[in-house]
Amino acid sequence: MLILLAGGAGYIGSHTAVELMAAGHDVVIVDNYSNSSPEVIKRIEELAGRSVTACEADVRDSSAMRLIMKANPVDCVVHFAGLKAVGESMRKPVEYYRNNIDTTLTLLECMKECGVHNFVFSSSATVYGEENPYPYVETMPRGSCSNPYGWTKFMMEQILEDASRADPELSVILLRYFNPIGAHPSGRMGEDPQGIPNNLMPYVAQVAVGRRDHLTIFGNDYPTPDGTCRRDYIHVMDLAAGHVKAVEYAATRKGTDIFNLGTGTPCSVLDIVRAFEKNSGVPIKYEFGPRREGDLPEFWANADKARTVLGWTAARTLDDMCRDTWNWQRNNPKGYAS
Ligand code: NAD
Ligand code: UD1
Repeated sequence: MLILLAGGAGYIGSHTAVELMAAGHDVVIVDNYSNSSPEVIKRIEELAGRSVTACEADVRDSSAMRLIMKANPVDCVVHFAGLKAVGESMRKPVEYYRNNIDTTLTLLECMKECGVHNFVFSSSATVYGEENPYPYVETMPRGSCSNPYGWTKFMMEQILEDASRADPELSVILLRYFNPIGAHPSGRMGEDPQGIPNNLMPYVAQVAVGRRDHLTIFGNDYPTPDGTCRRDYIHVMDLAAGHVKAVEYAATRKGTDIFNLGTGTPCSVLDIVRAFEKNSGVPIKYEFGPRREGDLPEFWANADKARTVLGWTAARTLDDMCRDTWNWQRNNPKGYAS
Protein backbone atom coordinates (compact mmCIF):
# COMPACT_ATOMS: atom_id res chain seq x y z
CA MET A 1 0.00 0.00 0.00
CA LEU A 2 0.98 3.65 -0.39
CA ILE A 3 0.59 5.51 2.90
CA LEU A 4 0.59 9.29 3.37
CA LEU A 5 2.22 10.23 6.68
CA ALA A 6 1.12 13.73 7.69
CA GLY A 7 3.77 14.90 10.17
CA GLY A 8 5.86 11.90 9.16
CA ALA A 9 9.21 13.60 9.87
CA GLY A 10 8.41 13.78 13.59
CA TYR A 11 9.38 11.38 16.36
CA ILE A 12 6.65 8.76 15.96
CA GLY A 13 6.09 9.32 12.23
CA SER A 14 9.73 8.71 11.32
CA HIS A 15 9.88 5.38 13.18
CA THR A 16 6.55 4.39 11.64
CA ALA A 17 7.84 5.23 8.15
CA VAL A 18 10.74 2.81 8.60
CA GLU A 19 8.47 0.05 9.93
CA LEU A 20 5.91 0.51 7.13
CA MET A 21 8.67 0.29 4.52
CA ALA A 22 10.14 -2.79 6.22
CA ALA A 23 6.69 -4.37 5.91
CA GLY A 24 6.70 -3.73 2.14
CA HIS A 25 4.62 -0.54 2.03
CA ASP A 26 5.59 2.78 0.46
CA VAL A 27 5.23 6.17 2.14
CA VAL A 28 4.70 9.79 1.18
CA ILE A 29 5.73 12.15 3.99
CA VAL A 30 4.20 15.61 4.33
CA ASP A 31 5.70 17.86 6.98
CA ASN A 32 6.31 21.59 7.46
CA TYR A 33 9.29 20.80 9.73
CA SER A 34 7.87 23.05 12.46
CA ASN A 35 9.05 20.47 15.02
CA SER A 36 11.44 18.34 12.96
CA SER A 37 14.09 18.62 10.28
CA PRO A 38 14.64 17.47 6.69
CA GLU A 39 17.64 15.50 8.01
CA VAL A 40 15.08 12.98 9.31
CA ILE A 41 14.10 12.09 5.74
CA LYS A 42 17.73 11.15 4.96
CA ARG A 43 17.85 8.92 8.05
CA ILE A 44 14.58 7.21 7.10
CA GLU A 45 15.97 6.51 3.62
CA GLU A 46 19.23 5.24 5.08
CA LEU A 47 17.44 2.82 7.43
CA ALA A 48 14.85 1.71 4.88
CA GLY A 49 17.42 1.34 2.10
CA ARG A 50 15.25 3.13 -0.44
CA SER A 51 14.02 6.59 -1.27
CA VAL A 52 10.99 8.33 0.16
CA THR A 53 8.70 10.93 -1.39
CA ALA A 54 8.86 13.89 0.99
CA CYS A 55 6.83 17.07 0.50
CA GLU A 56 7.43 20.21 2.54
CA ALA A 57 3.95 21.62 3.13
CA ASP A 58 1.56 22.69 5.83
CA VAL A 59 -1.09 20.02 6.22
CA ARG A 60 -3.66 22.81 6.68
CA ASP A 61 -2.94 24.01 3.13
CA SER A 62 -5.73 22.33 1.18
CA SER A 63 -4.39 23.26 -2.30
CA ALA A 64 -1.01 21.71 -1.47
CA MET A 65 -2.62 18.61 0.07
CA ARG A 66 -4.95 18.19 -2.92
CA LEU A 67 -1.98 18.32 -5.31
CA ILE A 68 -0.05 15.81 -3.21
CA MET A 69 -2.98 13.38 -3.02
CA LYS A 70 -3.69 13.75 -6.74
CA ALA A 71 -0.05 13.07 -7.63
CA ASN A 72 0.22 10.08 -5.24
CA PRO A 73 -2.59 7.50 -5.24
CA VAL A 74 -2.52 6.85 -1.50
CA ASP A 75 -4.48 4.05 0.14
CA CYS A 76 -4.38 5.44 3.67
CA VAL A 77 -3.54 8.61 5.60
CA VAL A 78 -1.85 8.47 9.00
CA HIS A 79 -2.23 11.79 10.82
CA PHE A 80 0.68 12.62 13.14
CA ALA A 81 0.88 16.35 12.32
CA GLY A 82 0.08 18.28 15.45
CA LEU A 83 1.37 20.51 18.20
CA LYS A 84 1.87 18.39 21.31
CA ALA A 85 3.35 20.33 24.24
CA VAL A 86 0.85 20.39 27.08
CA GLY A 87 2.28 23.47 28.88
CA GLU A 88 2.59 25.45 25.66
CA SER A 89 -1.04 24.61 24.82
CA MET A 90 -2.12 26.44 28.01
CA ARG A 91 -0.26 29.57 26.85
CA LYS A 92 -1.22 29.32 23.16
CA PRO A 93 -4.62 27.58 23.06
CA VAL A 94 -5.78 29.23 19.84
CA GLU A 95 -2.67 28.06 17.95
CA TYR A 96 -3.24 24.53 19.23
CA TYR A 97 -6.91 24.44 18.23
CA ARG A 98 -6.11 26.04 14.86
CA ASN A 99 -3.27 23.71 13.96
CA ASN A 100 -4.58 20.44 15.31
CA ILE A 101 -8.21 20.76 14.25
CA ASP A 102 -7.49 22.37 10.86
CA THR A 103 -4.99 19.69 9.84
CA THR A 104 -7.63 17.05 10.56
CA LEU A 105 -10.41 18.86 8.66
CA THR A 106 -8.18 19.56 5.65
CA LEU A 107 -7.09 15.92 5.48
CA LEU A 108 -10.72 14.72 5.63
CA GLU A 109 -11.81 17.15 2.89
CA CYS A 110 -8.93 16.31 0.55
CA MET A 111 -9.35 12.58 1.15
CA LYS A 112 -13.01 12.80 0.16
CA GLU A 113 -12.16 14.74 -3.02
CA CYS A 114 -9.40 12.30 -3.95
CA GLY A 115 -11.24 9.08 -3.04
CA VAL A 116 -9.02 8.08 -0.10
CA HIS A 117 -11.03 6.16 2.50
CA ASN A 118 -8.68 4.99 5.25
CA PHE A 119 -7.56 7.23 8.13
CA VAL A 120 -5.35 6.34 11.11
CA PHE A 121 -5.17 8.98 13.83
CA SER A 122 -2.55 9.70 16.54
CA SER A 123 -4.68 10.11 19.62
CA SER A 124 -3.58 9.94 23.23
CA ALA A 125 -4.40 8.33 26.56
CA THR A 126 -5.08 11.89 27.67
CA VAL A 127 -8.65 11.60 26.24
CA TYR A 128 -9.59 9.28 29.13
CA GLY A 129 -9.45 12.43 31.26
CA GLU A 130 -9.49 12.45 34.99
CA GLU A 131 -12.68 10.51 35.70
CA ASN A 132 -11.92 7.03 34.43
CA PRO A 133 -10.41 4.30 36.62
CA TYR A 134 -7.25 2.57 35.35
CA PRO A 135 -6.34 0.51 33.50
CA TYR A 136 -8.05 2.39 30.70
CA VAL A 137 -10.24 0.38 28.33
CA GLU A 138 -11.43 1.61 24.92
CA THR A 139 -15.09 1.23 25.90
CA MET A 140 -14.78 3.93 28.59
CA PRO A 141 -16.23 7.34 27.71
CA ARG A 142 -13.82 10.14 26.93
CA GLY A 143 -13.21 12.20 30.07
CA SER A 144 -12.60 15.88 30.63
CA CYS A 145 -9.10 16.99 29.70
CA SER A 146 -6.95 19.26 31.85
CA ASN A 147 -5.44 21.30 28.99
CA PRO A 148 -6.12 22.54 25.42
CA TYR A 149 -3.78 19.94 23.86
CA GLY A 150 -5.89 17.17 25.39
CA TRP A 151 -9.11 18.85 24.26
CA THR A 152 -7.84 18.99 20.66
CA LYS A 153 -7.42 15.19 20.77
CA PHE A 154 -10.88 14.83 22.33
CA MET A 155 -12.42 17.04 19.62
CA MET A 156 -10.54 15.42 16.74
CA GLU A 157 -11.72 11.98 17.87
CA GLN A 158 -15.30 13.32 17.85
CA ILE A 159 -14.86 14.91 14.40
CA LEU A 160 -13.47 11.67 12.98
CA GLU A 161 -16.26 9.58 14.50
CA ASP A 162 -18.88 11.96 13.05
CA ALA A 163 -17.21 11.92 9.63
CA SER A 164 -17.10 8.13 9.51
CA ARG A 165 -20.73 7.88 10.66
CA ALA A 166 -21.78 10.13 7.78
CA ASP A 167 -19.60 8.49 5.13
CA PRO A 168 -20.13 4.74 4.74
CA GLU A 169 -16.88 4.51 2.74
CA LEU A 170 -14.68 5.90 5.52
CA SER A 171 -12.57 3.72 7.82
CA VAL A 172 -11.14 5.50 10.87
CA ILE A 173 -8.76 4.00 13.42
CA LEU A 174 -8.11 6.03 16.57
CA LEU A 175 -4.83 4.97 18.19
CA ARG A 176 -4.53 6.07 21.81
CA TYR A 177 -0.83 6.16 22.60
CA PHE A 178 0.34 5.83 26.17
CA ASN A 179 3.89 7.15 26.84
CA PRO A 180 6.16 6.56 23.84
CA ILE A 181 9.89 6.52 24.60
CA GLY A 182 12.97 4.87 23.11
CA ALA A 183 14.56 5.17 19.71
CA HIS A 184 15.49 3.14 16.64
CA PRO A 185 18.01 0.49 17.76
CA SER A 186 20.55 1.72 15.18
CA GLY A 187 20.98 4.99 17.10
CA ARG A 188 20.26 6.90 13.87
CA MET A 189 16.71 8.03 14.73
CA GLY A 190 15.13 9.19 17.97
CA GLU A 191 13.30 11.93 19.79
CA ASP A 192 14.76 15.41 19.27
CA PRO A 193 12.81 17.92 21.36
CA GLN A 194 13.38 21.63 20.75
CA GLY A 195 14.50 23.54 23.86
CA ILE A 196 14.02 22.19 27.36
CA PRO A 197 12.27 18.80 27.19
CA ASN A 198 8.78 18.63 28.73
CA ASN A 199 8.69 14.85 28.89
CA LEU A 200 10.53 12.58 31.27
CA MET A 201 12.69 10.35 29.07
CA PRO A 202 14.26 13.05 26.88
CA TYR A 203 15.02 15.02 30.04
CA VAL A 204 16.72 12.03 31.67
CA ALA A 205 18.72 11.40 28.47
CA GLN A 206 19.88 15.02 28.35
CA VAL A 207 21.00 14.86 31.99
CA ALA A 208 22.97 11.70 31.12
CA VAL A 209 24.70 13.38 28.18
CA GLY A 210 25.51 16.50 30.21
CA ARG A 211 23.10 18.94 28.55
CA ARG A 212 21.08 19.37 31.79
CA ASP A 213 22.42 19.43 35.32
CA HIS A 214 19.79 17.32 37.05
CA LEU A 215 16.27 15.94 36.78
CA THR A 216 13.51 17.33 38.97
CA ILE A 217 11.05 14.59 39.85
CA PHE A 218 7.62 16.18 40.08
CA GLY A 219 6.29 14.86 43.39
CA ASN A 220 7.19 11.90 45.63
CA ASP A 221 4.06 11.95 47.77
CA TYR A 222 1.64 10.26 45.36
CA PRO A 223 -0.39 7.23 46.50
CA THR A 224 1.83 4.89 44.44
CA PRO A 225 4.30 2.19 45.57
CA ASP A 226 7.34 4.55 45.65
CA GLY A 227 5.47 7.87 45.84
CA THR A 228 6.31 8.92 42.24
CA CYS A 229 3.81 8.89 39.34
CA ARG A 230 3.33 5.74 37.31
CA ARG A 231 2.79 5.59 33.53
CA ASP A 232 2.65 3.01 30.76
CA TYR A 233 5.88 3.62 28.82
CA ILE A 234 5.99 2.01 25.40
CA HIS A 235 8.93 1.61 22.99
CA VAL A 236 8.47 3.79 19.90
CA MET A 237 9.37 0.80 17.67
CA ASP A 238 6.50 -1.18 19.20
CA LEU A 239 4.25 1.80 18.62
CA ALA A 240 5.44 1.96 15.00
CA ALA A 241 4.67 -1.75 14.57
CA GLY A 242 1.17 -1.03 15.93
CA HIS A 243 0.67 1.48 13.12
CA VAL A 244 1.55 -1.11 10.49
CA LYS A 245 -1.15 -3.38 11.92
CA ALA A 246 -3.63 -0.49 12.14
CA VAL A 247 -3.04 0.62 8.54
CA GLU A 248 -3.55 -2.94 7.29
CA TYR A 249 -6.65 -3.37 9.46
CA ALA A 250 -8.12 -0.03 8.31
CA ALA A 251 -8.22 -1.35 4.74
CA THR A 252 -10.44 -4.29 5.75
CA ARG A 253 -13.38 -2.51 7.42
CA LYS A 254 -15.48 0.67 7.67
CA GLY A 255 -16.55 2.95 10.53
CA THR A 256 -14.54 3.97 13.59
CA ASP A 257 -12.52 1.67 15.81
CA ILE A 258 -10.32 2.56 18.78
CA PHE A 259 -7.15 0.90 20.11
CA ASN A 260 -4.97 1.57 23.12
CA LEU A 261 -1.28 1.22 22.27
CA GLY A 262 0.45 0.54 25.57
CA THR A 263 2.18 -2.32 27.34
CA GLY A 264 -0.41 -2.77 30.08
CA THR A 265 2.27 -2.39 32.78
CA PRO A 266 2.85 0.73 34.88
CA CYS A 267 6.27 2.00 35.74
CA SER A 268 7.26 4.82 38.12
CA VAL A 269 9.53 7.82 37.55
CA LEU A 270 12.11 6.24 39.87
CA ASP A 271 11.86 2.94 37.92
CA ILE A 272 12.78 4.90 34.78
CA VAL A 273 15.71 6.62 36.46
CA ARG A 274 17.09 3.31 37.78
CA ALA A 275 16.59 1.46 34.50
CA PHE A 276 18.29 4.28 32.60
CA GLU A 277 21.27 4.25 34.98
CA LYS A 278 21.57 0.48 34.62
CA ASN A 279 21.48 0.55 30.82
CA SER A 280 23.70 3.58 30.30
CA GLY A 281 26.13 3.15 33.18
CA VAL A 282 25.67 6.88 33.85
CA PRO A 283 24.37 8.09 37.23
CA ILE A 284 21.36 10.41 36.89
CA LYS A 285 21.40 13.32 39.33
CA TYR A 286 17.88 14.10 40.52
CA GLU A 287 15.99 15.96 43.20
CA PHE A 288 12.37 15.84 44.27
CA GLY A 289 10.27 18.91 43.52
CA PRO A 290 6.60 19.78 43.87
CA ARG A 291 3.90 18.01 41.89
CA ARG A 292 3.35 19.27 38.32
CA GLU A 293 -0.10 20.76 37.78
CA GLY A 294 -2.39 18.48 35.79
CA ASP A 295 -0.45 15.23 36.44
CA LEU A 296 -2.47 12.18 37.37
CA PRO A 297 -0.92 9.87 40.01
CA GLU A 298 -0.99 6.89 37.68
CA PHE A 299 -2.60 5.34 34.63
CA TRP A 300 -1.91 2.52 32.22
CA ALA A 301 -3.52 0.70 29.35
CA ASN A 302 -5.60 -2.37 29.07
CA ALA A 303 -3.98 -3.50 25.81
CA ASP A 304 -6.12 -6.60 25.22
CA LYS A 305 -8.08 -5.24 22.27
CA ALA A 306 -5.01 -4.48 20.14
CA ARG A 307 -3.76 -8.00 20.87
CA THR A 308 -6.98 -9.80 19.99
CA VAL A 309 -8.13 -7.66 17.04
CA LEU A 310 -4.88 -6.36 15.51
CA GLY A 311 -2.63 -9.24 16.62
CA TRP A 312 -0.26 -6.67 18.14
CA THR A 313 1.51 -6.60 21.50
CA ALA A 314 4.35 -4.49 22.80
CA ALA A 315 7.39 -6.79 22.69
CA ARG A 316 10.19 -4.55 23.97
CA THR A 317 11.19 -4.18 27.63
CA LEU A 318 12.01 -1.14 29.75
CA ASP A 319 15.69 -2.09 29.39
CA ASP A 320 15.30 -1.96 25.58
CA MET A 321 13.65 1.47 25.86
CA CYS A 322 16.48 2.86 28.01
CA ARG A 323 19.29 1.24 26.02
CA ASP A 324 17.96 2.51 22.69
CA THR A 325 17.32 6.02 24.05
CA TRP A 326 20.88 6.16 25.37
CA ASN A 327 22.34 4.82 22.12
CA TRP A 328 20.51 7.60 20.21
CA GLN A 329 21.37 10.34 22.71
CA ARG A 330 25.07 9.57 23.07
CA ASN A 331 25.55 9.25 19.30
CA ASN A 332 23.52 12.41 18.62
CA PRO A 333 24.04 14.60 21.72
CA LYS A 334 22.38 17.56 20.01
CA GLY A 335 19.77 15.50 18.18
CA TYR A 336 19.65 15.82 14.38
CA ALA A 337 21.79 18.97 14.58
CA SER A 338 24.75 16.92 15.97
P1 NAD B 1 6.45 15.47 16.67
O1 NAD B 1 6.29 16.90 17.01
O2 NAD B 1 7.80 14.86 16.75
O3 NAD B 1 5.85 15.18 15.21
C1 NAD B 1 4.80 15.93 14.65
C2 NAD B 1 5.24 16.36 13.28
O4 NAD B 1 4.17 17.11 12.68
C3 NAD B 1 6.47 17.27 13.30
O5 NAD B 1 7.41 16.78 12.37
C4 NAD B 1 5.93 18.64 12.88
O6 NAD B 1 6.90 19.38 12.14
C5 NAD B 1 4.73 18.24 12.06
N1 NAD B 1 3.66 19.24 11.96
C6 NAD B 1 3.00 19.85 12.97
N2 NAD B 1 2.05 20.66 12.47
C7 NAD B 1 2.10 20.54 11.13
C8 NAD B 1 1.38 21.13 10.06
N3 NAD B 1 0.40 22.02 10.27
N4 NAD B 1 1.70 20.78 8.79
C9 NAD B 1 2.72 19.90 8.55
N5 NAD B 1 3.43 19.32 9.52
C10 NAD B 1 3.12 19.64 10.80
O7 NAD B 1 5.43 14.65 17.60
P2 NAD B 1 5.32 13.09 17.85
O8 NAD B 1 5.81 12.81 19.22
O9 NAD B 1 5.90 12.34 16.72
O10 NAD B 1 3.75 12.93 17.88
C11 NAD B 1 3.02 12.62 16.71
C12 NAD B 1 1.54 12.67 17.04
O11 NAD B 1 1.27 11.77 18.10
C13 NAD B 1 1.06 14.05 17.51
O12 NAD B 1 -0.23 14.27 16.97
C14 NAD B 1 0.99 13.91 19.00
O13 NAD B 1 0.03 14.75 19.57
C15 NAD B 1 0.58 12.46 19.15
N6 NAD B 1 0.97 11.89 20.45
C16 NAD B 1 2.28 11.93 20.82
C17 NAD B 1 2.66 11.42 22.06
C18 NAD B 1 4.10 11.49 22.51
O14 NAD B 1 4.36 11.26 23.68
N7 NAD B 1 5.06 11.75 21.65
C19 NAD B 1 1.70 10.86 22.90
C20 NAD B 1 0.37 10.80 22.48
C21 NAD B 1 0.02 11.32 21.24
C1 UD1 C 1 2.39 14.12 28.98
C2 UD1 C 1 1.11 14.86 28.80
C3 UD1 C 1 0.17 14.05 27.93
C4 UD1 C 1 0.85 13.71 26.62
C5 UD1 C 1 2.15 12.99 26.92
C6 UD1 C 1 2.94 12.69 25.69
C7 UD1 C 1 0.90 16.20 30.84
C8 UD1 C 1 0.09 16.44 32.07
N1 UD1 C 1 0.51 15.16 30.10
O1 UD1 C 1 2.12 12.90 29.64
O2 UD1 C 1 -1.00 14.79 27.68
O3 UD1 C 1 0.01 12.89 25.82
O4 UD1 C 1 2.97 13.82 27.75
O5 UD1 C 1 3.38 13.85 25.07
O6 UD1 C 1 1.82 16.92 30.54
N2 UD1 C 1 8.29 13.98 35.11
C9 UD1 C 1 9.19 14.40 36.07
N3 UD1 C 1 10.14 15.31 35.70
C10 UD1 C 1 10.25 15.80 34.44
C11 UD1 C 1 9.32 15.37 33.45
C12 UD1 C 1 8.34 14.47 33.83
O7 UD1 C 1 9.12 13.97 37.21
O8 UD1 C 1 11.13 16.63 34.17
C13 UD1 C 1 7.25 13.00 35.48
C14 UD1 C 1 5.84 13.52 35.34
O9 UD1 C 1 5.41 14.11 36.53
C15 UD1 C 1 5.08 12.23 35.03
C16 UD1 C 1 6.10 11.34 34.33
O10 UD1 C 1 7.38 11.90 34.61
O11 UD1 C 1 4.72 11.61 36.21
C17 UD1 C 1 5.91 11.32 32.83
O12 UD1 C 1 5.83 12.65 32.36
P1 UD1 C 1 5.75 13.00 30.81
O13 UD1 C 1 6.85 12.30 30.09
O14 UD1 C 1 5.68 14.48 30.68
O15 UD1 C 1 4.41 12.32 30.33
P2 UD1 C 1 2.91 12.50 30.90
O16 UD1 C 1 2.82 13.57 31.88
O17 UD1 C 1 2.42 11.16 31.31
